[in-house]
Amino acid sequence: MLNDIQEVLYSEEELQAKVAELGAQLSVEYADKNPLVICVLKGAFIFMSDLVQNITVPLELDFMAVSSYGSSTKSSGVVKILKDLDVPVEGRHVIIVEDIIDSGLTLSYLIDVLERRNALSIAVVALFDKPKRRTVDLEPDYKGFTIPDEFVVGYGLDYAEKYRNLPFVGILKPEIYSH
Ligand code: XMP
Ligand code: MG
Repeated sequence: MLNDIQEVLYSEEELQAKVAELGAQLSVEYADKNPLVICVLKGAFIFMSDLVQNITVPLELDFMAVSSYGSSTKSSGVVKILKDLDVPVEGRHVIIVEDIIDSGLTLSYLIDVLERRNALSIAVVALFDKPKRRTVDLEPDYKGFTIPDEFVVGYGLDYAEKYRNLPFVGILKPEIYSH
């Protein structure tokens, strides 16, 4: 598994430091708001887990699984809800936790869905942002790192369901996915 990594981008320590920073920020801004924190499965599961442990105010969690039709390294913008939320978002302050924003298509679809369900507010926390690849006008409200246009894995992020369990984030060798 480690042989497939070209370069480590962020170590476990760097990730933890950034997640603590984001958690502290959210703790201030969501004090007394009892936000509904939504994990977008599967990629955000480790980030979500670490993030909420760094939020010191009351909150609720829920999970959503979406799949975007397209190849495994590129999304098409057509999103299917595989697992919906368990609770209504109407009147709630919602925080969407995403692993990475690439084209932005997945997220803009999700925001649309939650707006139509009358969420009181919607904020996006993304651990990684690849602004170069954006095709829709969308900026995360809270961001971990801006990264170059490379395919990254680890800390929840996968290629073909592999590498999610790496505790760091690295660039996958292109030969792994280019054949
Ligand atoms: P869009 O293009 O809709 O895509 O913003 C967001 C989703 O695409 C996946 N994605 C990646 N997954 N390494 C990954 O493991 C990457 O470098 C990468 N870039 C995009 C991811 O599932 C994300 O939620
Ligand atoms: Mg994925």
